[in-house]
Amino acid sequence: MARFAVFASGTGTNFESLAHAFEDAAQPHQLAALFCDRRAAPVLDKAQQRGIPAYFLPYSTENRAIFEKAAITILRGLKIDLVVLAGFMRVLTRMFIDAFPRRIVNIHPSLLPAYPGTHAIERSFDSKDNELGVTIHLVDEGLDSGEVIARESFIRTGSETLAEIEARIHSIEHSLYPAVVRDLLDRAHGS
Ligand code: GRF
Repeated sequence: MARFAVFASGTGTNFESLAHAFEDAAQPHQLAALFCDRRAAPVLDKAQQRGIPAYFLPYSTENRAIFEKAAITILRGLKIDLVVLAGFMRVLTRMFIDAFPRRIVNIHPSLLPAYPGTHAIERSFDSKDNELGVTIHLVDEGLDSGEVIARESFIRTGSETLAEIEARIHSIEHSLYPAVVRDLLDRAHGS
């Protein structure tokens, strides 16, 4: 069995889709913990409702090293194989990334390298791009800049509203992320 932790800062719909995908006791992997940096984040309630241990770690630019060292200690104690960022609004330091080499992934709601950072869906929508989508990548010290490991895209007609594009992108995220995480955990389990 391989174990993973989710880092999230907000609503947590991706956390929900991951929790749902891995709740079946018959499958070999486990969502073992949530890490959150915002006390009011709805994702904390979602973890509580599902009985998934949640760690609230207050975070600011000044105490980033303290947050990350505490997280590393907890993650090692839990024997976590994979760190899954799902709407985690912080850039991790080299120290943290080096603690889990090629074992930290992120999902981003655009076709990277286009539109890294915040408001990616709105910026994609406002562009002249016909092809929109979702990217999953390994995490490095940059902003949504690591090695791409999966993408899924679609062609828009141009008549969709922003709300429809948002719904389509989130729907892709909620099926693609569990599938990619499962594949990574299968490999971690086999290695
Ligand atoms: C998702 O769109 C994800 O791609 C981005 O942040 C959003 C998080 O949404 N990194 P949620 O909190 O999982 O609903």
